[in-house]
Amino acid sequence: MSRLLYCWQLCFFALCSAEPLKLGFVKQLDSSRRLQQRYVNLPITNEVTLQRYVVNFTAGTPPQPFSLTIDTGSSDTWLPASNSSGCAPNCPGGTFDPAKSSTYKQEPGVELNVSYGVTPYNPNTTVTGPYFNDTIRLGSAVIENFHFGLGNVPSTLYEQGTFGIFALGSRLGQSSYSNPSSPYRGQVDKLFSMVYDELQAHGYTKRKAFSLYLNSLSSRTGTLIFGGIDTAKYQNELVSVPVQLQQGSFFSWNIVLTSVSRLQGTKNTTLTAPDTNIAVDLDCGAPSMYLPTDLVTSIQADLNATMHEGTPYVPCVHQHNSDILELTLGGPDGARIQVPYSSLLDPYGAPAARGPVTINGTDYCYFGVIATPGPIYLLGDTFQRAAYIVYDVDNQRVAMAQAKENVKEEKIVEIPTGTGLGVPVVTNTYVFPTATTTAGVK
Ligand SMILES: *[C@@H]1O[C@H](CO)[C@@H](O)[C@H](O)[C@H]1NC(C)=O
Ligand SMILES: *[C@@H]1O[C@H](CO)[C@@H](O)[C@H](O)[C@H]1NC(C)=O
Ligand SMILES: *[C@@H]1O[C@H](CO)[C@@H](O)[C@H](O)[C@H]1NC(C)=O
Ligand SMILES: *[C@@H]1O[C@H](CO)[C@@H](O)[C@H](O)[C@H]1NC(C)=O
Ligand SMILES: *[C@@H]1O[C@H](CO)[C@@H](O)[C@H](O)[C@H]1NC(C)=O
Ligand SMILES: *[C@@H]1O[C@H](CO)[C@@H](O)[C@H](O)[C@H]1NC(C)=O
Ligand SMILES: *[C@@H]1O[C@H](CO)[C@@H](O)[C@H](O)[C@H]1NC(C)=O
Ligand SMILES: *[C@@H]1O[C@H](CO)[C@@H](O)[C@H](O)[C@H]1NC(C)=O
Repeated sequence: MSRLLYCWQLCFFALCSAEPLKLGFVKQLDSSRRLQQRYVNLPITNEVTLQRYVVNFTAGTPPQPFSLTIDTGSSDTWLPASNSSGCAPNCPGGTFDPAKSSTYKQEPGVELNVSYGVTPYNPNTTVTGPYFNDTIRLGSAVIENFHFGLGNVPSTLYEQGTFGIFALGSRLGQSSYSNPSSPYRGQVDKLFSMVYDELQAHGYTKRKAFSLYLNSLSSRTGTLIFGGIDTAKYQNELVSVPVQLQQGSFFSWNIVLTSVSRLQGTKNTTLTAPDTNIAVDLDCGAPSMYLPTDLVTSIQADLNATMHEGTPYVPCVHQHNSDILELTLGGPDGARIQVPYSSLLDPYGAPAARGPVTINGTDYCYFGVIATPGPIYLLGDTFQRAAYIVYDVDNQRVAMAQAKENVKEEKIVEIPTGTGLGVPVVTNTYVFPTATTTAGVK
């Protein structure tokens, strides 16, 4: 999901101070854990019809189970309240009832208030409710006093398939920090810990970093590994590119798309101008890619694309299209990821679980590359399925390589402290040359 960005973030106001962020963790590493593996390997499930990836965990004492959307594009982890107006009592990912947890502690003074979608503020896509602490169990890890929001799911968000978020974005995107009406707005010392902060602070990982393998469109399972990299899941070497900072700070998993080509057999047609720099957020909570209109038009060329109720569709026969969309991130020496056109057609599509539509007697399928006016562009799941991506919070970098599909074998390497990843990496240092996005499309 893309959370609503308030003007002061986009306008690079002075509030986003360049002061380095420090967390006051004082907990000592549990000595019994020192000799154990220092990564947390979690299966994720592709909920195909809802176009989202979920991870299982529990919250509270006794544990209440959840299956919530993993989201590198937002920063507030929240559980659906058991009286949510949009879906309770049957929200598909589970609901949380604070009265049934003996370890629930409500946080006074500030409330969750997070809006989703790249639209002006809309209460129908806004989640509000209290913040609280409780115990979370995530694979082999147990974290006490983990910080959540307890959100009321509005019906519009429910219809869009959002009912609870497991956030993997930057702390600076938290609604308590960024929302203009929050009493904690702009207060770095009031930021809450993210899951990756807690796992590292409690010794479950050495680095605040995680790797994501969504796997192919048809596969139901992938993996999310905190503190580790599964080298069996990608080809060649990881290429590491810097996250583009705003005012010196890490606000989102923003990297630079510098070239897009369409490969048709031996023909290579470059769709972008040589000076292209498109700032894109890696957002696994978004089902599609959201890119500048001119670029999307050339990506869709010769596909007989049509708009249906606001979303692009192409004839379903393109599920057998052998063209490849090649994206280069981080300049000429950056990461190069190939996305088969056949994988851009989603059998379900928005709104959730609709399936193909018949137009003039032909079946049309949802096409997961969507034109948007900006300034926020996203590389969602139609991109991320093709890549194995390591998100390194501590070093404000991402490393990626072409994913191998449907690999069951695991060869997990622990991510060490410091800057190396514990596996061979090609390091790229491309920095966005200007403050504005240049969609230099041919
Ligand atoms: C997640 O939990 C659901 C509901 O309990 C269960 O059906 C599913 O198998 C679990 N998925 C994984 C990957 O463990
Ligand atoms: C849900 O319950 C809480 C606590 O009783 C209350 O504050 C909130 O207004 C309720 N929400 C809805 C949507 O009814
Ligand atoms: C919740 O936990 C945090 C530490 O993660 C702590 O700072 C805060 O005071 C706790 N809040 C409550 C209400 O216990
Ligand atoms: C929110 O939903 C209500 C009820 O469906 C509708 O009347 C209202 O126009 C919506 N508001 C916005 C800003 O979309
Ligand atoms: C949520 O934030 C918006 C934008 O700042 C504000 O207009 C709205 O009043 C807030 N809602 C609540 C319940 O605090
Ligand atoms: C396609 O062309 C682009 C731009 O010249 C180049 O960077 C890329 O390596 C080419 N891809 C292939 C597979 O040849
Ligand atoms: C695409 O449109 C062209 C020209 O209108 C037509 O000849 C062709 O059959 C169409 N292809 C598909 C797959 O619908
Ligand atoms: C469907 O047919 C109508 C009427 O001929 C035409 O205007 C429209 O462009 C067609 N739509 C598609 C997607 O081919």
